[in-house]
Amino acid sequence: MKPGQLLYLSQAEVVAVGLTMPEIVDLLETAFREKGEGRVEMPPKPGIHPGGGDNFIHAMPAYIPAMQSAGVKWVSGFPGNSERGLPYITGLLILNDPQTGIPLAVMDCEWITAMRTAAATAVAARRLARPESSVLGILGCGVQGRTHVAALDVLFPLRRVMAYDIRPEAVRSFAEEIKRRFDLEVVPVGDPRRAVGNCDMVVTSGPILKVPHATIQADWWERGTFASLVDFDSFWHPAAMKQASKFCTDDIPQLMHYQRIGYFQDIPPIHADLGELVTGKKPGRENVAERTIACNLGLALDDMAVAPTIYRRAIQKGLGAWLPL
Ligand SMILES: NC(=O)c1ccc[n+]([C@@H]2O[C@H](COP(=O)([O-])OP(=O)(O)OC[C@H]3O[C@@H](n4cnc5c(N)ncnc54)[C@H](O)[C@@H]3O)[C@@H](O)[C@H]2O)c1
Repeated sequence: MKPGQLLYLSQAEVVAVGLTMPEIVDLLETAFREKGEGRVEMPPKPGIHPGGGDNFIHAMPAYIPAMQSAGVKWVSGFPGNSERGLPYITGLLILNDPQTGIPLAVMDCEWITAMRTAAATAVAARRLARPESSVLGILGCGVQGRTHVAALDVLFPLRRVMAYDIRPEAVRSFAEEIKRRFDLEVVPVGDPRRAVGNCDMVVTSGPILKVPHATIQADWWERGTFASLVDFDSFWHPAAMKQASKFCTDDIPQLMHYQRIGYFQDIPPIHADLGELVTGKKPGRENVAERTIACNLGLALDDMAVAPTIYRRAIQKGLGAWLPL
């Protein structure tokens, strides 16, 4: 920290810090344990919706005392951006000093969002998926599809990825990249059912829609499967979700907030939030036959779990630009 100055970190500098997925999974474990013990301050995110439709810009503040972390992420999601060749998710994060409230850093949050979302799925999967899970279905082969392979590969003995996207070129580039980066077989499929049936874990990461396209039908997923709904309930028919023995989320007040503004109009009862699963206050998977769902909405605490480590390591490595306050 330099008095009267803050550190600005571009996306390239955030990446250059070199935080690894296993480290991010560990940081999120700590954050969700703190949440489960009731030691996190995190109001539901307010948002604005420029252009209407499914566009959003959310303010996401959180304070995690045990991690000496306080701050806010200002993040946008514009589903039409991919047609403009622009990222779906963009934004900035402000990290504050929890002792004085003074801003310490402003950093790009695109990479952090991509990584921490998948790490939160991994934290949930550790409790809800079968430990021997080796076949992963990815529906929506974009940024989240990629980071989810990376995160689940940390905790599970992955062998094969079944890859589906409405854009065949997205599946092609995903398959090339995943094969290059991981020792995994990638099977591109043109029928979404093939990325759901016979999979141990299924991740849906297409656009978030108020009116779900509800492609995945009842009985497509086998008993024993774990599903991560990164794009809310957009991909799932209500009858398919209702086959889950346990429908979990990362924060129940946030889910209820989304219900009030029109999302999640037909979902199963909520079994637990992720803090309750991590602290063992509610059970995770109890037998091999259960179908389980984690519908993590993405929380400010996910970001605030990661940001202080990025800040500290950036200073150690001399990355970023100091700007006057
Ligand atoms: N829950 C969270 O914490 C969280 C965090 C970040 C992003 N998200 C959400 O994850 C989703 C993916 O984000 P991203 O950054 O990977 O976006 P992206 O644009 O990189 O990837 C989305 C992919 O979905 C594909 N797609 C679009 N419609 C589809 C359909 N009907 N069926 C299959 N594929 C389809 C697109 O072709 C694209 O390849 C978004 O909905 C985003 O809002 C959730």
